[in-house]
Amino acid sequence: DLPAEVRIHEVGPRDGLQNESGLVPVEVKAEFIARLAAAGLRTVEATSFVHPKWVPQLADAEDLVPRLADLPARHPGLRLPVLVPNERGLDRALVHGVGDIAVFASATETFARRNLNRSADEAMAMFEPVVRRATEAGLRVRGYLSMCFGDPWEGPVPPEQVIGFGVRLLEMGCEELSLGDTIGVATPGQVGALLDGFARAGVPAGRLAVHFHDTYGQALSNTLAALRAGITTVDASAGGLGGCPYAKSATGNLATEDLVWMLHGLGIRTGVDLRALVEASAWMADRLGRPSPSRTVQALAGG
Ligand code: HMG
Ligand code: MG
Repeated sequence: DLPAEVRIHEVGPRDGLQNESGLVPVEVKAEFIARLAAAGLRTVEATSFVHPKWVPQLADAEDLVPRLADLPARHPGLRLPVLVPNERGLDRALVHGVGDIAVFASATETFARRNLNRSADEAMAMFEPVVRRATEAGLRVRGYLSMCFGDPWEGPVPPEQVIGFGVRLLEMGCEELSLGDTIGVATPGQVGALLDGFARAGVPAGRLAVHFHDTYGQALSNTLAALRAGITTVDASAGGLGGCPYAKSATGNLATEDLVWMLHGLGIRTGVDLRALVEASAWMADRLGRPSPSRTVQALAGG
């Protein structure tokens, strides 16, 4: 059975732009986000309050977030989450009245060290006060878990290891857990098996989201496997922008346009106006000076 409706968690401005080699002007980012909201996306991850030296592409978070302040009034229900790794990041986000944050853990030791400069357990300890303080302040907290299927340094990742860290994030107070195939190596059978494992561990599918990168062209097939397992929240990146600067061989995320094309073809509602979304991504591709890798953008842009 497939769901009647899917909530798309748009990550292009964050997961996409964090990986650009050049710096994108803050006005361009603000306009991109405004266009995504106008196309009907209702969750648009805007930026990260991480260390500016670690991710210079998002060092303008303090400048960007105030430029988005009028968007929720124009688009009721719009949420603009930001990534926060630690209490310093939370303090920065709170100054700007951010209502939604996400912490980001790793299912593997190597990626925890490379992405967060800590062991996986130390990273969980770093998130604990962030999640507690944020939920006490009435914020919504999403938990990301990276390397849920394979890790470039460690190879395949055992599902029990993923489920162990995932359950800890949920128990810590994360409302939703996004399962990341950071380097895009998963295939649909693995997706079904991991989601079955979460179900056996007592985690309802409604608290899970999937986050696929498209390195091996499996992101849409993996998404369909996830929908069949009851998932109704899917992460995607407008125009297929993206990657992760700290994960060797991570390419772009599942393109939001390709996802919308499939979902609408299946009769699943998204609230997204595909034409407007394609225009937003084509506009962004022009700003970046190269074509979007999304097949749907290529098929529909300028048409
Ligand atoms: P660290 O160097 O261990 O930090 O970095 P620290 O706690 O030792 O602090 C060192 C200094 O940094 C201190 O300054 C802090 O104040 C400052 P000093 O006292 O020396 O002057 N500092 C900060 N400044 C501003 N904002 C902050 C902050 N934190 C500390 N938030 C840290 C640890 C976690 C900060 C660093 O490793 C980091 O920023 N990592 C972020 C990496 C990142 O953003 N990766 C990409 C996102 S994850 C992803 O893309 C995967 C995902 O898409 C899902 C998937 O695909 O799997 C989500
Ligand atoms: Mg990602």
